[in-house]
Amino acid sequence: MARYQDRWTCVTVEVADGIAWVTLNRPDKRNAMSPTLNREMIDVLETIELDDDAQLLVLTGAGEAWSAGMDLKEYFRETDGKSDIVQERMRRDCSQWQWRLLRMYSKPTIAMVNGWCFGGAFSPLVACDLAIAADEAVFGLSEINWGIPPGNLVSKAVADTMGHRQALHYIMTGDTFTGAEAAAMGLVNRSVPRAELRQATVELARKLLEKNPVVLRHAKHGFKRCRELTWEQNEDYLYAKTDQSNHRDRERGREQGLKQFLDDKTIKPGLQSYRR
Ligand code: COA
Repeated sequence: MARYQDRWTCVTVEVADGIAWVTLNRPDKRNAMSPTLNREMIDVLETIELDDDAQLLVLTGAGEAWSAGMDLKEYFRETDGKSDIVQERMRRDCSQWQWRLLRMYSKPTIAMVNGWCFGGAFSPLVACDLAIAADEAVFGLSEINWGIPPGNLVSKAVADTMGHRQALHYIMTGDTFTGAEAAAMGLVNRSVPRAELRQATVELARKLLEKNPVVLRHAKHGFKRCRELTWEQNEDYLYAKTDQSNHRDRERGREQGLKQFLDDKTIKPGLQSYRR
């Protein structure tokens, strides 16, 4: 905590054992995302990206909520009537961290969904590479309940992760669902009892921390772009990603992996990672 203590007002960051624990920290407001929080999160993500002690980022929330979505008071009501430029900049800040920075982040990201997760919170949820929820967490696309259609990247995010019928059901009814249901739908990777959430997250993080970070980065970027490309474009793009990864990988993982399997016969890549 010490190095980032008191640096931000709406977010805390603690770095330990390679993991940056980024906690949305407005528990009294259920970690609703205000314009201030959005600006701070841009700085948090840019700062952590350059911190060599942080090899992986976990995004979670303080108290009972992961995030109750956009701040209905500070993001909506208090900016009604402000100039177009102010409103557009506020939206840009929001997208900048919730989507652009987080989705293509250079380090692995895990959403650790400890509690309430509503509306606008689905954008950063899906932008994180992986997600683990507490069984007891409660999710909802609540926009319909307070009079707007889902904005920002929310519908895009659910279209990418939930089935068509399920997504429309929750968008149109505002019904809530649990962490266990979110896992069954594929919105999160898995759910566990809340008491085990942190340990399950640490175990997943450790597994990722053992992998070659350069290869991991290129693998996830390749996957995240491939949905929007044609088969022909994908062939070129993914080969280019492979070449870029080989070029940038100073530890020469590919050669180590091939040697340990083909020459030393010490690993079976189908069953385990090469030893770094
Ligand atoms: N925006 C602004 N403030 C919010 C908020 C949000 N999205 N979610 C909660 N808060 C505030 C409440 O206004 C309240 O503030 P107050 O103490 O100054 O009155 C405080 O957080 C606690 O909220 P409360 O409703 O009393 O908590 P709860 O634990 O009983 O219920 C929720 C939690 C998340 C179910 C409920 O707060 C809620 O429905 N929030 C809105 C969810 C939503 O629709 N988000 C928008 C998506 S775009």
